Amino acid sequence: MTSPLVAGLTGKTALVTGAARGIGLETALMLAENGAKHVILLDLDPAGVQRAAGAVRDRGAAATAVAVDLADRTELRVALSASLRDAGSLDIVVNNAGICDENAPDDLDTWLHVMDVNLTGAFAVTACCLGRIGDGGRIVNVSSVLGKLGNLRNTAYSASKHGLLGYTKSLALDLAPRRITVNAVLPGRVDTPMMSRELGVLASRIGSDVERVVRNARREVPLRRLIEPAEVAGLIAFLASDNAAAITGQSFTIDAGFTRGA
Ligand SMILES: NC(=O)c1ccc[n+]([C@@H]2O[C@H](COP(=O)([O-])OP(=O)(O)OC[C@H]3O[C@@H](n4cnc5c(N)ncnc54)[C@H](O)[C@@H]3O)[C@@H](O)[C@H]2O)c1
Repeated sequence: MTSPLVAGLTGKTALVTGAARGIGLETALMLAENGAKHVILLDLDPAGVQRAAGAVRDRGAAATAVAVDLADRTELRVALSASLRDAGSLDIVVNNAGICDENAPDDLDTWLHVMDVNLTGAFAVTACCLGRIGDGGRIVNVSSVLGKLGNLRNTAYSASKHGLLGYTKSLALDLAPRRITVNAVLPGRVDTPMMSRELGVLASRIGSDVERVVRNARREVPLRRLIEPAEVAGLIAFLASDNAAAITGQSFTIDAGFTRGA
């Protein structure tokens, strides 16, 4: 979808993590539809990321699929460095890949894995990109409303998403001399495979059926609906655009009113 709010992407090169499906896929497509010349798509899922790269090419941009696990730092460095070298330039980084595994309060293994992907993963990807991203570039980190709220059985996820906000604010200061902006988006419930899985887990935990859990999820939200992944992608694309050049170190909630401005 092209948007008048998304100016200046023509000729830009973008990297999107978690780009095989959901919010990451929609973001890659939206950047391509609004003029990006090259999108590098990174994901754990080799077939999914190839499919997504094909969809980006169908929209007229070049696409490179990088199949790698963010938690494997050596593989990540090797694969990403090669793709960035081949691309030649980099303007936009979207740290979107994430997992939402539940954990008991004493479950260290899940805690470490969730932190590794959601928080250290964003750090590691960005670190690989710092020498390539041009002055005036854009970094957008995908946090969550659980970056400002707590949630049952979610200490790891919630802490990782809170952590991304601190990372965003501090990195914005580090990169301001290069006019690179760093911002975060905080989605509420978005209709993606992650959300379907989460609502399925909730349904089986409380012994309910998924349809009822989805109905209740809608009722909890003032606008009475889930958010479309393309709506989150639109916000990310705006923050990646020329129109957002004066915005840095900020967090933007898109939650259909769930947190009521909290
Ligand atoms: N869906 C929601 O309701 C919601 C709400 C708030 C925040 N978010 C955040 O938005 C982001 C995208 O979520 P989504 O709903 O599109 O999720 P999704 O599960 O539908 O897609 C996530 C993508 O990330 C990839 N990924 C996961 N772990 C990876 C790893 N270790 N290395 C490389 N790729 C990996 C997956 O393969 C998948 O393609 C996540 O950071 C998530 O926490 C989602």
